[in-house]
Amino acid sequence: MKVTVVGAGAVGASCAEYIAIKDFASEVVLLDIKEGYAEGKAMDLMQTASLNSFDTKIVGSTNDYSKTAGSDVVVITSGIPRKPGMTREELIGINAGIVKEVSSNLIAQSPDAIIIVVSNPMDTMTYLVHKTTGLPKNRIIGMGGALDSARFKYRLAEALGAPISDVDGMVIGGHSDTGMVPLTRLATRNSIPVTEFLSEERLTQVKEDTKVGGATLTKLLGTSAWYAPGAAVSALVQAIACDQKKIFPCSTMLEGEYGLSDICIGVPVVLGASGIEKIVEIELSEEEKEYIKNSAEGVSKTNGLLAL
Ligand code: LMR
Repeated sequence: MKVTVVGAGAVGASCAEYIAIKDFASEVVLLDIKEGYAEGKAMDLMQTASLNSFDTKIVGSTNDYSKTAGSDVVVITSGIPRKPGMTREELIGINAGIVKEVSSNLIAQSPDAIIIVVSNPMDTMTYLVHKTTGLPKNRIIGMGGALDSARFKYRLAEALGAPISDVDGMVIGGHSDTGMVPLTRLATRNSIPVTEFLSEERLTQVKEDTKVGGATLTKLLGTSAWYAPGAAVSALVQAIACDQKKIFPCSTMLEGEYGLSDICIGVPVVLGASGIEKIVEIELSEEEKEYIKNSAEGVSKTNGLLAL
């Protein structure tokens, strides 16, 4: 399994590191436009291999896409991150051009690759990759929901005073401060609905903290987060590489599912060797349906800013 990660910034490098540490890929190519940067990160990471016991080869490249040829999975983290006070949607002007070029370059070298989109605004960038590459929908995956769900589980565990391994939960909808839909109704602590333990008021707080998870970190760090985004990507890549058939919420092109069409937004999918193998349609409450509808309206509005 060969994986390419475009963008050797904090998210791309964390992603390469987690993939390498899990040791399921033979090679990770890290590519960046900044001269020598990806080579430096790759060398630094390779020097952890004996310490962290992995055999994955990490190769750095300054914008030489020929090094990415024959990749099975490619990850796009390129573009600029937001600064405190900004929304992800404000990044569209710069990131759309970058993501368009990067996705074309990647597919020219790896025509059979599965693409994972991380760059923000993520749902709109996933939509843009569809329009740019014309690849079948199973091969284009937007990462946001896996990350948002990990943050949701963190907040639930905190509220419950429980270990995170005891908690399960999912966030669907758009990867934006207002568009996320944390499904508290379906969240559990060791199979018991969390509603048995937490008041409506506490659950509302968990939902609100989850939705601004990225913004909270951006404020604390002065730039956007990288560990959890990198780990979320590595979990998706592993599900594909190891044909795990795991369910993650991912941004995918909908064609009528959840009453939505011609939009990429987060819904539960089964991930395996061929990428998105199935979109899982679950019965939503009337309130959740309304949230998803509003979320989709927000994503569509941002999509409308693309020059397609
Ligand atoms: C995240 O959620 O960490 C990323 O989408 C980056 C951001 O801008 O918050």
